[in-house]
Amino acid sequence: MSTFYITTPIYYVNDAPHIGHAYTTINADAFARWHRLMGDDTMFLTGTDEHGLKIQRTAEENGVTPLEQADSTSVRFREAWEQLNISNDDFIRTTEERHHLAVQTLMQKAYDNGYIYSDTFEGLYCVGCEAYYTEDELDDGNCKVHERPAEHMSEDNYFFKLSAFADQLLEHYEQHSDQVRPDGYRNEVLGLLRQEVRDISISRTSINWGVPVPWDDKHVFYVWYDALINYATAVGYGADEDRFGTYWPAAHHMIGKDIIRFHCVFWPAMLLAAGITDLPKFYVHGWLLIGGEKMSKSKLNGVTPKQLIEGDDEQAFVPFGVDGVRYHFLRDPSFGPDGDFSYEQMIVRYNSDLANQFGNLVQRVITVTGKKCGDLAPSCDGDSPLKAEAEKAFTATTEAWARAQPPIALDATWRLIRETNEYLAAKEPWKMEPGADVDRVMGDSLEAIRIVSILASPAIPVAAQLAWERIGMTGNVDDQRLPDAATWGQYAGGVALTTGDPLFPRLKG
Ligand code: MSP
Repeated sequence: MSTFYITTPIYYVNDAPHIGHAYTTINADAFARWHRLMGDDTMFLTGTDEHGLKIQRTAEENGVTPLEQADSTSVRFREAWEQLNISNDDFIRTTEERHHLAVQTLMQKAYDNGYIYSDTFEGLYCVGCEAYYTEDELDDGNCKVHERPAEHMSEDNYFFKLSAFADQLLEHYEQHSDQVRPDGYRNEVLGLLRQEVRDISISRTSINWGVPVPWDDKHVFYVWYDALINYATAVGYGADEDRFGTYWPAAHHMIGKDIIRFHCVFWPAMLLAAGITDLPKFYVHGWLLIGGEKMSKSKLNGVTPKQLIEGDDEQAFVPFGVDGVRYHFLRDPSFGPDGDFSYEQMIVRYNSDLANQFGNLVQRVITVTGKKCGDLAPSCDGDSPLKAEAEKAFTATTEAWARAQPPIALDATWRLIRETNEYLAAKEPWKMEPGADVDRVMGDSLEAIRIVSILASPAIPVAAQLAWERIGMTGNVDDQRLPDAATWGQYAGGVALTTGDPLFPRLKG
């Protein structure tokens, strides 16, 4: 059995969950669900990033301790992910004991291997990014992301010999074209490694809200070098070597393009410094913009997942439901480039793909079968014209998930829905007399719905399960295993179908 380990970035607890965070998490969730369907031993991790100056300052502003700040915001992320039907197997918080132990073990190894030294550091620091910048990386002294002045900082730091790994990493990314997807971001990583790669400061003495450096307790690790290690902590690094050995070689990190350098350059170098030679793969996506700008708390332009799921009278948002929100964020933004969030597009997509195409197909097939085929559903025909369409849909869907392109995967799955709707429109079973012909048409359509329910379940898990049950299938759609479950000809009929409310009621724009 193959293994698949997928992670989201761990989110800072100064900001409440917004749809930018949800976009990353929904995508990671769909990959996890797809790999479970493919029979992979899958581990899906998300969590919160709770140390560092940014959190310490937010806590001060809110008049609470950093841990209280972390406790309350971390819960909001958990709740948001539960509401979005996120199927994470673990939720890590960097303030947990297991994480402190893993950070100290990994960094101690890098130190013992001679890759960490002490020096004085002076530079311009953006607290929002928790990163140092050179003058020319700033815009007139201001951070380009946060549009605020960077602060001058000087302190005794431990440094990591990043420069020692530049050639090895360059060669690694040159030789393995599938390490970073989409390809444009791989080029960005290659570009970063072809420039001068400088050593990086990895500890702080000016704050104490962090993981203590094990060989010098006046220092805490700089938040990013504690945060990245979360991915290793959660699969047992330093605590359960068997578990680490199982999942680590299959690590895939889903990240936004804003954190490429930390993930694709710093993190693999840290792993190598600690003697870990299996390097993770990356799925990188662009920003979700609102009015051309990245969403964030400081710009007050955040839209929350809850507002879209449940609707919001103040904003005049209609309720899209959990599956409606998930589907939009998987299907509409191309995976890779930046994209403007569009409420109007969300309505159009929902009404066309979910209400008209999928919802109507299920409703119509169940209604016509009930009218024309008696109390029990007919079985499908092994030799249907839809068989080839189902095979094509399965192959194209699988290829697109493997290339990390959710919008293309869903388009391929929806093709089978459209083909089935066209087949029905051509056959017009509602005009046929009861008998073998109409039984065949309806049995085939039910088989197409069975297969679509499986293939669409990573995107719309609730509706997929409902459709599965309404056509008389038992058990969970999530428990089906591909490719076998997608093989044409398994709908056996002889079961009662269930009618119900539309799976996706049409929304008014
Ligand atoms: N805590 C760090 C990550 C540490 S991972 C070891 C961090 N946190 S964050 O909360 O600021 O952002 C994390 C991720 O949220 C981004 O990389 C991105 O995946 C996602 N997004 C946050 N805002 C976003 C948009 N507006 N658009 C798309 N994704 C966004 O950085």
